[in-house]
Amino acid sequence: MDLISIRDLNQKEIESILKHVDETKTTKGKGKILATAFFEPSTRTRLSFQSAALRLGMNYIDFSPEVSSLRKGENFTDTLRMIDGYADIVVVRHAKEGAARLAAGVSEAAVINGGDGGNQHPTQTLVDLYTIKKLKKKIAGLDIALVGDLKHARTMHSLVYALAMFGARLRLIAPSGLELDKALVNEVKNKYDASVETRPQMDLRGMDVLYTCRIQEERFADPYEAKRVKEQFKITLETLQGAKNDLVILNPLPRLGEVDRTLDTTSHAKYFEQAHYGVPVRMGIIDYLLQK
Ligand code: NCD
Repeated sequence: MDLISIRDLNQKEIESILKHVDETKTTKGKGKILATAFFEPSTRTRLSFQSAALRLGMNYIDFSPEVSSLRKGENFTDTLRMIDGYADIVVVRHAKEGAARLAAGVSEAAVINGGDGGNQHPTQTLVDLYTIKKLKKKIAGLDIALVGDLKHARTMHSLVYALAMFGARLRLIAPSGLELDKALVNEVKNKYDASVETRPQMDLRGMDVLYTCRIQEERFADPYEAKRVKEQFKITLETLQGAKNDLVILNPLPRLGEVDRTLDTTSHAKYFEQAHYGVPVRMGIIDYLLQK
């Protein structure tokens, strides 16, 4: 089984993976090999997958585009065909939307999408769901504000779908021009009868969770436009006035100033804890896929 889009999983399957997380013990993957094939920069996703593999008793191999035959002109699918022969699970990250699906098409090994362009980042979403459940004990009925570059952020695209599936109420707040694709909003409304509202202004009153993300500069056609919107919707102590005392702030990281550092020491800041759940959740994902 591959994990390319959050749409590949239904609620029961997601719950089963999240339940797995606390139960997954070491040595299950003995003798198996995980390959990380990242054609785009990564800190958390790559390292937490490698760490998860080691904790499961697996080994991992890491493909580095800079020192590979890509430099001689080898194409993406031939490269993936090779990696497929060397590993049982391949985690692929690429700047092009659809790259992970393409990789899955030429691979016998299970392929996990570690992020494809502005499209999907399903394993980050599983980390996010796990974190929210851990902190709030539920997802259904929570009021969750999603703030930032909703147009380009793959983390948001996977997350919106999953939160709607689980019955959270969503408030979308984006700089003008960076709103969430209407097709996705309509999809979750039709499929899950989701409550989704859009606000042009920052308004966190009544919210249980604030999920922010950076402006995805590398996905802008015009870099000057990215600079212009960068200063909008920065979260500071002032922004939180009127918000619930137990509001939780999450961010997939890296953050580039959208969450002010003065918040790090407040009880709202949970983004580092969220990042640390990357290892146990990915252990659960690997274990789940190895059993399929
Ligand atoms: C995210 C990504 O790569 O999409 N990073 C991550 O995996 N935690 C978020 C981002 O780059 O903004």
